[in-house]
Amino acid sequence: MTETKRQKVTLGTLYEKMRKGDPITMITCYDYPMADLVEKAGVDIVLVGDSLGMTILGYDSTLPVTQDVMMPHAQAVRRGTPNAWLIGDMPYMTYQPSVETAIRCAGRFMAEAACDSVKLEGGIEMADRVAGIVRSGIPCMGHLGLTPQSVAALGGYKVQGKGAAQAKKIVDDARALEDAGAYAILLEMVPDRVCELITKRASVPIISLGSGPNAHGQLLIFHDMFGLYPRFKPKMAKVFGDAGKVIGDGLKQYVAEVTSKQFPQSENWFGIKDDEYAELVKML
Ligand code: KIV
Repeated sequence: MTETKRQKVTLGTLYEKMRKGDPITMITCYDYPMADLVEKAGVDIVLVGDSLGMTILGYDSTLPVTQDVMMPHAQAVRRGTPNAWLIGDMPYMTYQPSVETAIRCAGRFMAEAACDSVKLEGGIEMADRVAGIVRSGIPCMGHLGLTPQSVAALGGYKVQGKGAAQAKKIVDDARALEDAGAYAILLEMVPDRVCELITKRASVPIISLGSGPNAHGQLLIFHDMFGLYPRFKPKMAKVFGDAGKVIGDGLKQYVAEVTSKQFPQSENWFGIKDDEYAELVKML
């Protein structure tokens, strides 16, 4: 059976989905085999998140992740998913210092990893970075609510915008990002009704990560979805399949079979013809 070729996801695809009320799917992804699965599942947006610092590299936060660390992951993901809308996540201190550093970082994701877009964290205070990136011809997604690069200032990984004043700041930030030219905004761990309110006012797609159903799309972190992050499972994540358990059980079985000499069997090794072997013995 011939597979139908998947169409490349473009900004037009995302805006059309928003217009029709069709939910946009988004997932994080960090390497080639994952990206191949994501491509085949038909996910719209793939984020090479700096969350890889925690999920792949085992750091306690995203802060140690540099752009040089991100690039091979972004390149591998692009090779695995040629058709998803691919976002390179701008790491800590690549855009905070200035508009120029922001444009240079965004440019590397586009030129060296063939990303379609970048994402950065922050609201009004980062609006000039978003505007500079967009002026350079690079689509930029905003990220509000729980912004992990500011975890110290936010007092931990917790819901943002529970009080009216903090929620108003997030609403204002969303408007500022839109005005600066962000093509979409991710809301992470914002109360559902605040997310709904922002979605209703927005003219760009709003993506929810733990911020409720009333957004234009949903994002989950790959490792949380498949039981692959050993430290904790965030409340907002749903486990769609426990790959961590499957792999863990397989590894225990491997150890048991090697130890008991059940593995390998003849189908797991390569032989040499009798005459060639006899010749070899003679040569020795
Ligand atoms: O790095 C990442 O995966 C992210 C998500 C948490 C939104 O920025």
